[in-house]
Amino acid sequence: METVILDANKPENIELCAAVLKNGGAVAIATETVYGLGADALDKDAIDGIFAIKGRQRDNPLIVHVASVDDIKPLVSDIPSLFEPLANRFFPGPLTLIMKKSDAVPHNVTAGLDTVAVRMPEHPAALALIKAFGGPIAAPSANPSGRPSPTKAVHVLNDINGKIPYILDGGDCKVGIESTVLDISGNLPKVLRPGAVTYDNLREFFSDAGVAWSDDAGYDADIQETPMSPGMKYRHYSPKSPLTAVAGLPDDTAKYITAHMDNDSVALMFDDYYFSHPNVISFGHSRDFSAQAARLFDALREADGIGSSVIYAQVPQEDGLGLAVANRIKKAAGGNLVMLS
Ligand code: TXA
Ligand code: MG
Repeated sequence: METVILDANKPENIELCAAVLKNGGAVAIATETVYGLGADALDKDAIDGIFAIKGRQRDNPLIVHVASVDDIKPLVSDIPSLFEPLANRFFPGPLTLIMKKSDAVPHNVTAGLDTVAVRMPEHPAALALIKAFGGPIAAPSANPSGRPSPTKAVHVLNDINGKIPYILDGGDCKVGIESTVLDISGNLPKVLRPGAVTYDNLREFFSDAGVAWSDDAGYDADIQETPMSPGMKYRHYSPKSPLTAVAGLPDDTAKYITAHMDNDSVALMFDDYYFSHPNVISFGHSRDFSAQAARLFDALREADGIGSSVIYAQVPQEDGLGLAVANRIKKAAGGNLVMLS
């Protein structure tokens, strides 16, 4: 099978992809966060196909994507009172909510957990596909497990060409990193994965009621035995060459990297520290966390293209969306972190 990239702006292409899903197949879809690999969320055989294509560990559950708040109700057995206000404020958008699952959701979607992750994407291509298909679509990021998530249709093609019939191309992903995962199935809401709905946004939203931060959302989740969000325990987002994450003030991290670089290393630098060199890649201004998020995964792929024994990356300050960018870089480094304070 040759994988074909289809323009998501053409309604007939949405119909072609919906037909694949109705037949139990899988297609890649643009969302505002990253490209997803979608299949019928209520068809356990179609879900097995997703795990096989990605080479994904069976204990790592998938996110179910819907086109309206009403579509969520049949998937959940117990809707918490927090659900409605959160949905009103943040849906559609880059927020995934974890709630108790209903029997309608197959066990392989949730990797045997009694909770289900749901999200309503904002990207018109994703919404159009869910509507044309007429049901919920389970979709992990469309990369082979462990690799950087795809933020362009061509990333998906490079990663899984031949394994799916179509990629629904909705352009470059605006956000560029995966959704915030928030568990509201317990007493205290808990952030399991940071994203573009930031910890600050959530603290402001919950105010006195509070919101917890799972240690598991940190970069050192690998050492936890029973992670809250199973996916966070794996080494992730990783380029082929080993990555060294360098955290601290941008002036210091830039100095460290330029002092340690040689001909066999690649450096991911903020735009304001970029210097023209074949092995230096820029990924957004040091204070522009949105630009960094949008560029990061493409920059990691570019770094791989150069081929080197080590990739150094400047880690942004951990405020706002910088926290999620820093989380992805540290995870990609698999704990290989230099802290300059
Ligand atoms: O932005 C996104 O969320 C993208 C796009 C395609 O929507 N999807 C995505 O899916 O990032 P994936 O499979 O790469 O990451 C899903 C994360 C994993 O860390 C997984 O462990 C966690 O969500 N997750 C899913 N269901 C869960 C559950 N019931 N309890 C705890 N964590 C869950
Ligand atoms: Mg993923």
